[in-house]
Amino acid sequence: MAEIIDIASEHGWALARGCQVLEDAEPVAIPTETVYGLAADATNPRAITRIYEVKSRPRFNPLIAHMSDLAMAERYAVFDPLSRKLAEAFWPGPLTLILPLTADSTIHPLCTAGLDTVGVRIPQGFAAELIAAFGRPLAAPSANTSGRVSPTEAEHVQGDLGDKIQLILDGGPAGVGVESTIIKIDGDKVRLLRPGGLAVSAIEACLGRDVMRHDNAAQAAIEAPGMLASHYAPKAGVKLDRLHVEPGEILINFGNQPIAGLDDAIAIFDLSPRASLSEAAANLFAIMKMADELPARAIAFAPIPHHDLGEAINDRIARAAAPRPEARYED
Ligand code: TXA
Ligand code: MG
Repeated sequence: MAEIIDIASEHGWALARGCQVLEDAEPVAIPTETVYGLAADATNPRAITRIYEVKSRPRFNPLIAHMSDLAMAERYAVFDPLSRKLAEAFWPGPLTLILPLTADSTIHPLCTAGLDTVGVRIPQGFAAELIAAFGRPLAAPSANTSGRVSPTEAEHVQGDLGDKIQLILDGGPAGVGVESTIIKIDGDKVRLLRPGGLAVSAIEACLGRDVMRHDNAAQAAIEAPGMLASHYAPKAGVKLDRLHVEPGEILINFGNQPIAGLDDAIAIFDLSPRASLSEAAANLFAIMKMADELPARAIAFAPIPHHDLGEAINDRIARAAAPRPEARYED
């Protein structure tokens, strides 16, 4: 089992021990506001390779390089005016910007999968402090085995990766609950590569222009290579937009909607009885994980509105419901 350090009660030790393990080129599970990340030195190929080993990820996808502040980010990535405006408005926070590498960037090509761009994000809270103390950016995908639900609590990480990693830093449940929104500025176009914890409407309001979405998953997969249609895979099949549940199924409701067949459901959850999309996002992965541990014939989701954080929630559950190709590339 991995050592778990509670950040609230052992803040200094969490920072010191985290830096020690990172210096050894070993990954550390860290809390971020979106999901727990499996973090390693983004400048060290040995450390990045360990991330892939621990996740059993089938191949190298570009990873997000997490920075402590804008000054650090500017050493590794070039900001155009629109990206800078977003960075100033929303960092630290659940936003990743795809930016050109600086000429002397020391981010390792294993982190960028050899691209000349890098995904950059400044996370909220302890993660940014750890990066500042470590002094170099941290590459971090979600801290789960490939094909499983992203972890939003330290216990999820322990249950999944506890025998493969040395250290989990416990910052309590992740507040946002879905991964960051990924944006790429292309000339005067603002492109959404992944809906996530920052609502597109907030980005549009900040920039005073529309954000362009992809027309299809194939296009998204080319833009953000980790974004193939299938993502995590609950054992039971997933059904979407249901207002009825069949015998032996689990219902995952939203906003306490009236659902037919509840008496024969084997379990009933509600992402947010008061119909709050941010509460639903924060609860999504933990509830999916609980549902996945029950012997259900299927997991049926009630309709969830598509606006604001609903876009990311619907994206993640559609991926969970998608047919699974032989080669699944999981973030
Ligand atoms: O909230 C998050 O973003 C979490 C936490 C831990 O920060 N991290 C996360 O990382 O979701 P990951 O590795 O699961 O997702 C990274 C996504 C992938 O879809 C990848 O293709 C895309 O970012 N990406 C990274 N660098 C890129 C680049 N240079 N160009 C295009 N897409 C990139
Ligand atoms: Mg992931």
